[in-house]
Amino acid sequence: MADDAACRPFVRPPRLFERTRTPVGARYGYTVGSAQVGVPRMIEPFEQANPHALAAVVAAGEGHSIEASEDIVDAQGVKLWARGRPVAADMIERLVDRRLRRPIEQCLAARDGIDAGQVVAETTRLLEHSEYLSLLAGRDALRLLDVAGRLPLVPPVALLLTAAKGRGDAFTHACLVMLLAGALAARCGCDVSGLQRVMLAALVHDVGEQYVNPEYLRSRRELSLEEWRHVSAHPRVGELFVRTNTRYPKEIAALVAAHHERLDGTGYPARSVARALPEGAGYLLVAETMAGVLNDPVSAPARAVLAMGLVFGEYPMGIVNHVVLAQRSFPVEGSHTLERDAARERVVAVREGLARARRIAATLEDRVEHDAERRSLGRLAPLLSRLDAAFVSTGTAHYFDLVEQCADADAELVLQLELVPREVRWRMRSLARDVAQDLVAFPEGGRERFAPMLDVLRGDAAPRS
Ligand SMILES: [Fe+2]
Ligand SMILES: [Fe+2]
Repeated sequence: MADDAACRPFVRPPRLFERTRTPVGARYGYTVGSAQVGVPRMIEPFEQANPHALAAVVAAGEGHSIEASEDIVDAQGVKLWARGRPVAADMIERLVDRRLRRPIEQCLAARDGIDAGQVVAETTRLLEHSEYLSLLAGRDALRLLDVAGRLPLVPPVALLLTAAKGRGDAFTHACLVMLLAGALAARCGCDVSGLQRVMLAALVHDVGEQYVNPEYLRSRRELSLEEWRHVSAHPRVGELFVRTNTRYPKEIAALVAAHHERLDGTGYPARSVARALPEGAGYLLVAETMAGVLNDPVSAPARAVLAMGLVFGEYPMGIVNHVVLAQRSFPVEGSHTLERDAARERVVAVREGLARARRIAATLEDRVEHDAERRSLGRLAPLLSRLDAAFVSTGTAHYFDLVEQCADADAELVLQLELVPREVRWRMRSLARDVAQDLVAFPEGGRERFAPMLDVLRGDAAPRS
């Protein structure tokens, strides 16, 4: 797995700022979902103004001066607003009512919005406030800041990053993923052109989220299937945004599309496997996962290692090894108390859930009647076996009995007992979402046959969509 393209540093010559041509009509000719199971059909964002992106831009206009980055032209070719003229919020709303040649949010720029200098400032702040990030970046920190300061932020990208800054911590997250991906790529021996590609892709990896209902992004409840489809399309929306609004090399768009995929095909939205991922994608996969756990300064390094080491084959081990090495300098310390009853319940629920899911899968082998069901089961059953084996190999259930007999538990062990069931449960829900997406292709009776499987994978608390 370690020699897959996704794990290798870049070897191509530097061509980051070359002009790339977007084929005429690519925005509309792009087919989504026809060949790949589970790819959400979400192409609409660029056919008209997206209300969520527009709301973010209008909100950004409260703190920044917004202007037309190009002539704003209606569908008949009539110029409505000249390039460079300021555009107030009420004007944006009026322009939205007209049929425009290009969506309004793609014709605007924030005059005093995010630029490379602000990216460097935010990244420097992150480095100064985190011993762990400083250690990970090590001697490459200055080189990474230098690369960050030279990234070409074209107006549509700068505008969405400005909008992201106004929405929670989205801009900080973008800089954090950029720093992590860059630090890992540097540790793996990536040259400057490779670092530029990885860091630019990492900085813009979530621009597609600006096109997603922010309520779903913030939601702590289990999303319905439709809501999840909406959210899980953001890598594809980001890819389309980069392809149609920038002249970045096509690899940048491909990396954006891949940032939630996994080497073993268990990611989203395309369920791509390692060989189908673009060169350098591994840095983004690892960086994105790490960014998700770094909000806990005490146990973050250990959490990152656990999350990525649980199921072999999801992440490129050549890159993860650097995360493991960095974690050695940050052992989990301090007093950790275990909520024993709750922890026991979680461990037992996961163990029994996996066993039940595997039993149901075995039963379904004899019951499925159609190819679509067979394909879905053929993909699910080995993933379930692998997840079960991964859970057993952590020894979590055995350790729990051990901890029960001790007055004080080792901090790292406590962390494992808390994290492993949560990680396994998360993956079971992810499998449930995959199956739920497959259901649309099932003929009559198939949904009923798979209903018990869905219930088990979702867990008792999860609502049926
Ligand atoms: Fe992200
Ligand atoms: Fe994302």
